[in-house]
Amino acid sequence: MKDELTQDQRSANLKGMGSSRKRVEDVRFTQGKGRYVDDIKLDGMLFGDFVRSPYAHARVTSINTEAAMAIPGVVAVLTAKDLEPLGLHWMPTLAGDKQMVLADGKVLFQGQEVAYVIANDRYAAADGVEAVEVEYEELPVIVNPFEALKSNVVLREDLEGQTEGAHGPRKHHNHIFTWEQGDKEGTEKVLEEADVVAEEMVYYHRTHPCPLETCGCVASMDKVTGKLTLYGTFQAPHAIRTVVSLISGIAEHNIRVVSPDIGGGFGNKVGAYAGYVCSVVASIVTGKPVKWVEDRMENLMTTAFARDYWMQGKIAATKEGKITGLWCHTTADHGGFDACADPTKFPAGFMNICTGSYDIPTAYLAVDGVYTNKAPGGVSYRCSFRVTEAAYFIERMIEVLAIELNMDAAELRRINFIKSDQFPYQSALGWEYDSGDYHRAWDQALNAVGYKELREEQAQRIEDFKAGKTRKLIGIGLTHFTEIVGAGPVKNCDILGLGMFDSCEIRIHPTGSAIARLGTISQGQGHATTFAQIIASEIGLPADDITLEEGDTDTAPYGLGTYGSRSTPVAGAATAMAARKIRAKAQMIAAYLLEVHDDDVEWDVDRFSVKGAPERFKTMKEIAFAAYNQAIPGLEPGLEAVSYYDPPNMTYPFGAYICVMEIDVDTGEHEIRSFYALDDCGTRINPMIIDGQVHGGCTEGYAIAMGQEIAYDEMGNCKSATLMDFFLPTAWETPTYTTDFAVTPSPHHPIGAKGVGESPNVGSVPCFSNAVHDAFRPFGLVQSHMPHDHWRIWKIAKDLGLHS
Ligand code: CDP
Repeated sequence: MKDELTQDQRSANLKGMGSSRKRVEDVRFTQGKGRYVDDIKLDGMLFGDFVRSPYAHARVTSINTEAAMAIPGVVAVLTAKDLEPLGLHWMPTLAGDKQMVLADGKVLFQGQEVAYVIANDRYAAADGVEAVEVEYEELPVIVNPFEALKSNVVLREDLEGQTEGAHGPRKHHNHIFTWEQGDKEGTEKVLEEADVVAEEMVYYHRTHPCPLETCGCVASMDKVTGKLTLYGTFQAPHAIRTVVSLISGIAEHNIRVVSPDIGGGFGNKVGAYAGYVCSVVASIVTGKPVKWVEDRMENLMTTAFARDYWMQGKIAATKEGKITGLWCHTTADHGGFDACADPTKFPAGFMNICTGSYDIPTAYLAVDGVYTNKAPGGVSYRCSFRVTEAAYFIERMIEVLAIELNMDAAELRRINFIKSDQFPYQSALGWEYDSGDYHRAWDQALNAVGYKELREEQAQRIEDFKAGKTRKLIGIGLTHFTEIVGAGPVKNCDILGLGMFDSCEIRIHPTGSAIARLGTISQGQGHATTFAQIIASEIGLPADDITLEEGDTDTAPYGLGTYGSRSTPVAGAATAMAARKIRAKAQMIAAYLLEVHDDDVEWDVDRFSVKGAPERFKTMKEIAFAAYNQAIPGLEPGLEAVSYYDPPNMTYPFGAYICVMEIDVDTGEHEIRSFYALDDCGTRINPMIIDGQVHGGCTEGYAIAMGQEIAYDEMGNCKSATLMDFFLPTAWETPTYTTDFAVTPSPHHPIGAKGVGESPNVGSVPCFSNAVHDAFRPFGLVQSHMPHDHWRIWKIAKDLGLHS
């Protein structure tokens, strides 16, 4: 039989890897047909709402619920006393600490959950919250981690006297852990003997992932079947099921966790919140489904924050600019409870990727975790476990070193990049970078923006500024970042003892269409589009004929979920491996149908053909039907496979970003003149989706660098709990981006892909920040803390004496 289509045409019809297939999810999202947790309405459903502490640190002396219970519609009010007999007034955190579910004697941050009101509707619940009378006795508040380590005030009285924590010895009653990596003595020696040492405190302020959809859940306990169904905004539904089972004692097979459509996660929806526990308890107690959905203020004030790292750095180099050592001491403000979401063995996440893209022979990192009176959390806001902090640190330290050496920062980077022939590269802090070609990417980026001409223009502008002809400066922000994404491997990475593998199950239907289920869960990344593309390329069925399902623990294979750009590196690999199992069986079926030996057929885009006789073939569609219709000797009927993939290593995507910014010295206003983003995420599955990821991540990065902050006053009041104060860029503020790419496949990933979702957030923050610093470099600015809002930029200019 002859096929009238060419190989290229058949390949294009599949819309497989490399095609900018339109996002299949968008049909429902753009028509308002998404099904989010708040869209779930169950018969007899009740609503929960929290009484929250107005104080950042106080003793709770009494809680009176009588008036609340008298409000029509209020069904019950839960306090810690009600949860205590169940052992649920505290819950374990992902970081090995424990956290109050409802205030147990005292509160440790403003907005902490004190009581949970359950009512027939939201409004009655809100009225009930107003009516609960709580008496507090104020305690001294500590919002500064350095003061916390000196203070006599004991924040965590429950841990008083405990000198050992989940991550080793505690040095002080407000200290959580010390985590050390690298060669301390060796690095100190290098610093002593170096030609040049640059030293700086780099602060990455507290911010928040602020997904458009806040966190929430619906718990529904069926007392007849004994089955608990928990719908929620969970980035890791399987892990939540296991945690719920361990905490509640309900057998895991009697728990179904469902993540419906999720309106952005960015790390905010990884951990477990008091709202989940209280809703489950409320549903068990009342026998009715209970919904809890936070409002914006609750989300910003109480659910997982990000960053808040004070990074003291020293970087040593020769006079010529070759870096010889890096030293970093980080003070990490974790708030009232250590609820950071990191793999167990990494209490400061992957902060030890702070040597960045550079060949630094000796390095040392120490991180001290500290309790303060702020909200707990410490999640990777669109990054892989503190990589963003690490990238910001090293990219600022490079700039500071360039000032010290009086060198061009682009050249300093070039001198120190890991060379392409050094991969796989063993970093001084313990990572094995899989692949990269940093010099090529850097040259591509500098050429694309016309770097030399930009520097000339900038020099002219400085002359004009000094001559009084202009009040605007130009900043050229440079960044070359290296990400580390795709946790596992299981031997290194676990969360609460659960190894960080991931999974995919594929079933081919008789007519040649398919369903794939994964252990991950999309929150806007477009998994239904891109994972179908992987399968299409691997087994030759059109992506349009492949349905993708995630997020239902009753049907999806077990996986550790979606965060830290792990979906493509881990579940994407599982998808390719499951598809390859199917293709291997399809080969045997094809050989049987074609009456040749298995080895005598070869794969050709969407079919197996006889070697040397391409006109004799069986398409995957024909093979799929045969799998259900023919009794093939030695083979079971059906065509399906599952893969649980434990990655051998992480993947190391990287990028070169350049920002050109104009700054008005008198008003502190800025204008992003251009932003160029080159990303190398290995094999590209869907270039259009990658572009979308880069645009979104850069916009978040822009927000963080230029204005977004969770700020507290000295009383521990959160000063940025609404979107009036917390900067979330709209289309109006969002800069225009030019995207570009290079492809250095990951050698250990089945399709060579690395993650990309987090890269633009990791790379763009230092890029924007470096642009601000660069504008003022000729006038003596070395370091200034983010966010660089108008006032702070105006203040830099003022402090440098640039205002008349
Ligand atoms: O884990 P998460 O989905 O947040 O991040 P990711 O694995 O970096 O993927 C984000 C989106 O980009 C997904 O739809 C991926 O399939 C897509 N992607 C791609 O098309 N090519 C790559 N090399 C990496 C990701």
